[in-house]
Amino acid sequence: NPYETLLVTRQGKVGLITLNRPHALNALNTLLISELNRALKGFETDPGIGAIVITGNEKAFAAGVDIKEMHTKTFVEAYGSDFLAPFDKIGNIRKPIIAAVGGYALGGGCELAMSCDIILAADNAVFGQPEINLGIMPGAGGTQRLTRAVGKAKAMELCLTGRMMEAEEAERANLVSRIVPADELLEEAMKVADKIANLSQHAVMMIKEAINRGFATTLAEGTRFERGQFYSLFATEDQKEGMAAFIDKRKPEFKNR
Ligand code: HXC
Repeated sequence: NPYETLLVTRQGKVGLITLNRPHALNALNTLLISELNRALKGFETDPGIGAIVITGNEKAFAAGVDIKEMHTKTFVEAYGSDFLAPFDKIGNIRKPIIAAVGGYALGGGCELAMSCDIILAADNAVFGQPEINLGIMPGAGGTQRLTRAVGKAKAMELCLTGRMMEAEEAERANLVSRIVPADELLEEAMKVADKIANLSQHAVMMIKEAINRGFATTLAEGTRFERGQFYSLFATEDQKEGMAAFIDKRKPEFKNR
């Protein structure tokens, strides 16, 4: 394991990244974020990997950006180094990423989960943007992605008061796709990832791209983009195979061609 702050393994076609600073509730320091980007890039460029899972431990997915590292920064240092820029790269990975969230996902930890494509929550998960209690505000997409996920009123309340919400509320508010018992979280996340990783990767990546495009643009632009992607999939062998298999009543064998 060539990482100090992560455990990085693979199971079949799934890449698994475990945030590994348990003594600090997986607080996201500079090293962790740069290692996370390195691990994600490695899986993205690995043709043997079709989906990625990011998880933490029972107590915390991640309790935020590392306050002990951040607290002495001046404006000039923060702006000059643009130290949050590496967070943006996570959303640009083309392969689907599942956040398997147990325990605390706070501040930058909640923002990291929201940069992933699917959030699966353990029944003990807690989400929040408590930055306001530190005299700052979310800075890695919290005011934007949380609002798109749960709507304005709840995002305002959570960001303005720092109130945390538990898994059930997060599911009701559409922040997470599903809740699973804490001791089944990783197994379930790996199952979802494995399912995705064994489908046609062109279709998978285009779906991710089209859904994300919709968040960045208008409905008309988004549907036009989707239509183009849809037609282009008819240039793949996997489309011929997928449809032939349906007609022949057999399982398709996708070859990512
Ligand atoms: C650095 C952290 C940390 C963090 C926890 N720790 N969160 N260190 N940065 N964000 C450390 C604690 O200092 C402590 O270290 C150890 O982890 C265990 O935490 P405790 O507080 O003792 O645990 P507990 O009492 O169970 O409380 C859990 C908690 C609390 C409620 C989650 O740790 C907490 O409030 N953490 C901060 C949450 C937060 O404000 N997050 C937003 C950060 S700002 P020691 O050495 O004492 O054992 C942010 C900015 C985002 O994320 C903007 C752009 C990305």
